[in-house]
Amino acid sequence: MRVGLEALSFYIPRYYIDLKTIAARRNEEAGKYYIGLGQEKMAIPAPDEDVVTMAANAAAQALQGKETSSISTLLFATESGVDQSKAAGIYVHSLLGLQPNCRVVELKQACYSATAGLQLALALVAQNPKQKVLILASDIARYGLNTAGEPTQGAGAVAMLISSQPDILTFDPASGTYVEDVMDFWRPNYLEEALVDGKYSVKIYLKALAEAWNNYQANGGFSFHEFTRFCYHLPFTRMADKAHRHLGKLVHEQDLSDEQVKAHLEEGLRYGRSVGNVYSASLYLGLISLLDNASDLAGQRLGLFSYGSGCVAEFFSGVVAENYQQHLDSEGHRQLLHDREELDYEAYSRFFLFHHPVDGSESLAGHFKTGKFRFSGVNNHQRIYEKTA
Ligand code: COA
Repeated sequence: MRVGLEALSFYIPRYYIDLKTIAARRNEEAGKYYIGLGQEKMAIPAPDEDVVTMAANAAAQALQGKETSSISTLLFATESGVDQSKAAGIYVHSLLGLQPNCRVVELKQACYSATAGLQLALALVAQNPKQKVLILASDIARYGLNTAGEPTQGAGAVAMLISSQPDILTFDPASGTYVEDVMDFWRPNYLEEALVDGKYSVKIYLKALAEAWNNYQANGGFSFHEFTRFCYHLPFTRMADKAHRHLGKLVHEQDLSDEQVKAHLEEGLRYGRSVGNVYSASLYLGLISLLDNASDLAGQRLGLFSYGSGCVAEFFSGVVAENYQQHLDSEGHRQLLHDREELDYEAYSRFFLFHHPVDGSESLAGHFKTGKFRFSGVNNHQRIYEKTA
């Protein structure tokens, strides 16, 4: 039986900052970000946007025109959770009006957790092909103003519907995993911004890629030349370039040419370059970017690499379905990227520094541009969400 992606969409905040603005503020050359990191714009959430509203908007888009009564499980992947106990997915379940006989849970392992969700979903659907699983990956990457990580922030959500009707992509059974206890990136409960050893995280990412690939091979995976494209976790798009050259060297014992790297990666990097890091959703935003922007990929096999600091990594693969384009809202995705408002540095830092009081007293988020759902504020320690007109 084939199991895979029946629907796939994303949502990003309605505001962004150009990395030229950050560069000017820091007296640095924009080339460091545009070329060195491969990043041009960073999506910035307004105070009335959070992981719940972004995920609900992504899901509403993915489920448009779909029959939702067979969604039996909702898995919410995030490392930007809004509550230590309640799963963010319950708010989304309610905002979308999904059927009540549904298991809902939140998953965490840095940028990797949506991939764990995906593997759980594949097993659940294989066990009962009548059920569908909705995976939501939603995150806000925060490193802090004026830190080394600041240019690699971002925000957004991806929604994936997994079923036995894989109209977009069927996943292959083999996958390769790797885990190692490392402190490359983490966020203690008392901090709002991540702590990161940036250079070390790049090294560990590359090590984990090699280990996961070797495990994928040992588990009967496809060989390098059987893939026409590769998608990597994208903390910044230049990371995919580093990763792919590293994997190519491991496999071929010689460097891949610039043309080979470009042919394998290029279209998958476009959206990430204009959005920034979306942690758990990054790999899947890259997959959407590839499917939306490459010419016909039907029948082709894609290699996918997921990495979450700390760290857990997984290499897996899938085959693109015939007529997959008809099941993607590529025009809607491009529109979403295009229809955004640019922020200057002051407006960006105001959004960044906005906080609700921690005593739970009534506090409104204010009205900014959002999608179909917004976070209106906090009252009596409870988060209040609403549909926009
Ligand atoms: N034009 C073109 N390239 C330039 C440049 C310019 N004017 N100035 C610098 N660069 C290049 C550098 O040579 C470097 O390229 P390299 O990676 O090939 O060496 C790149 O831009 C980045 O510059 P660097 O000085 O290394 O940046 P940094 O010290 O600010 O740190 C990160 C970069 C990624 C470590 C930092 O942004 C970070 O900590 N990010 C968060 C963690 C993260 O995303 N980790 C990824 C794994 S999960």
